[in-house]
Amino acid sequence: MAKMAAALCGSAPKCLADRPRIVVVKSQRLPALSAETVGTADARHALPALPYPLAALEPHIDSRTMALHHGVHHASYVANLNSALEGFPELRGRDAQWLLLNPSKMPLSIRTVIRNNAGGHVNHSLFWRAMSPAAGGEPTGPLADAIEREFGSLEQFKLRFEEAGIKLFGSGWVWLARAQQNRGRLQIYTTPGHANPMMQGHFPILVNDVWEHAYYLKHQSRRAEYLRGWWPVVDWEEAARRFEGSDLFSERRWEGEGGSVRMEAK
Ligand SMILES: [Fe+2]
Repeated sequence: MAKMAAALCGSAPKCLADRPRIVVVKSQRLPALSAETVGTADARHALPALPYPLAALEPHIDSRTMALHHGVHHASYVANLNSALEGFPELRGRDAQWLLLNPSKMPLSIRTVIRNNAGGHVNHSLFWRAMSPAAGGEPTGPLADAIEREFGSLEQFKLRFEEAGIKLFGSGWVWLARAQQNRGRLQIYTTPGHANPMMQGHFPILVNDVWEHAYYLKHQSRRAEYLRGWWPVVDWEEAARRFEGSDLFSERRWEGEGGSVRMEAK
């Protein structure tokens, strides 16, 4: 039905009401926090615990990769972020998301290191939650309708998502996000390094990490194989929650993202 409606509707203005509705639903998993300032000048960023055991995503993602990825790579971004902020007490109360989205407010001497490490922290925090051991299957509800409307089918979406990840040069991330434009329609993005679509005002729904450290132990350089094998651990319920909870017209739409929920007093 959704596919038929989209075909009949096209891009005519009178049909905009038929686009995916933007529904304001508060997160059921994350505490409500200020979108801007969390903690104090003594606060430090903290590595979030994985929401499942290291081996829980086997055989799709092996426990050795998970241990290295979370315990070394993600941990290093958190440590580097704290280190970079040592001499800047005015920034130490800011959450990682705020630091990532406000580069103009960073001193030039630490702007790059903050962007890279706050981005690494925020992106990995999203990535762990994009997966679950009790996952896979297919999306349902409004997200399923929106994927069908934008991409034709779930299978077509998966192919385009994989293709985007394969074509991304070097290290980076592949995303399904709601575009800031066009009433929040779904779009596939790739970002280099640890950039995030939030930096262009888009709201992330689903993300996969295509840095080699995410797959090299199991797949060596076969990124396409990794991308194809990732779908059984995708937590579509989490993606649907993000889709239905994204309020693109609210100043508080980034509430609860990334490192903001995981700062702790020193
Ligand atoms: Fe990573």
